[in-house]
Amino acid sequence: MLKTALIAGVVGLSSLLNPLMANANEVNLYSARIEALIKPILDEFTAETGIRVNLVTGGADELLQRLQSEGRNTPADILLTTDAGRLHRAKEAGLLQAFASETIERNIPENYRDPEGYWVGLSMRARPIMYVRDRVDPSTLSSYEDLADPRWKGKICTRSSSNVYNQSLVAAMMAANGEAATEQWARALVNNFARPPRGGDRDQIKAAAAGQCDLVIANTYYLAGMLTDNDPAERQAAEVIDVFWPNQQDRGTHVNVSGAGLTAAARNRDAAIALIEFLSGDRAQQWYAEANGEYPVRDDIEIGEILSQWGDFKADPLDMSILGDNNAQALRLMDRAGWR
Ligand SMILES: [Fe+2]
Repeated sequence: MLKTALIAGVVGLSSLLNPLMANANEVNLYSARIEALIKPILDEFTAETGIRVNLVTGGADELLQRLQSEGRNTPADILLTTDAGRLHRAKEAGLLQAFASETIERNIPENYRDPEGYWVGLSMRARPIMYVRDRVDPSTLSSYEDLADPRWKGKICTRSSSNVYNQSLVAAMMAANGEAATEQWARALVNNFARPPRGGDRDQIKAAAAGQCDLVIANTYYLAGMLTDNDPAERQAAEVIDVFWPNQQDRGTHVNVSGAGLTAAARNRDAAIALIEFLSGDRAQQWYAEANGEYPVRDDIEIGEILSQWGDFKADPLDMSILGDNNAQALRLMDRAGWR
């Protein structure tokens, strides 16, 4: 009995120390999504399949760096992260491998998947215009393009160009309007900024609530998160803000995805694909999107209560991979335009 325990101990220890050991019954996940927003659905996956999920959470850019420095020795089988621009970076850096799955092809619309099968979008996030209800008449709003109009001078808050969300917005504008027009737009937009960009999306919303600006470009899940925050200051700021869906007369509002890819070094390939397939399924789609105030990538899934208050909108159907393709150019363009 002692001997069995000893052997079990040794096996347990060696599988901990040796990432080269693969176990058909587990999968190692690097997640930029915090534990509270993913663990419950992973537990459901484990209950259904018997496959254990070892979860490592971290910042999105930090996890990319970690994968890169671990190289072939990474224990990670799946990278779960936010923004098509980042998923594209992971692909370009050779950190992911292509895989095919009929389930995923059936579940996830084509424009939310990498055309070469390197990553899959699992939730959709919208980046509309938000406005201070008491200071802006929404009938005066129309499109992202219109935010360049001089009448918005000193009225707009958004975060810096170092964040991938605005890079992806600019990448989408480039796809719609071309590079030259987008650069002109970015220059005029920067001219309309109320202050030099600083902080994240929540900080822009708070600045607007505090009277520093009237309009904000931000992802809706931040507003949703603030509305349900335990901190009354967050709730009070969010309560004076409304969502305006831009570009409803043309291409639609800019959207992005959070998604997952199979790592190039994945040792638990089948289990990893099974997990990504599970996350594309009905049950996971509903919970996973709603948990973070995001939208399902499938339009046959009902959206949650908080999101319903902002109504339906037309999303830009642009292929998400274009956001990645245009990313480097978008960043240079923003730099030239003085968007720091
Ligand atoms: Fe975010």
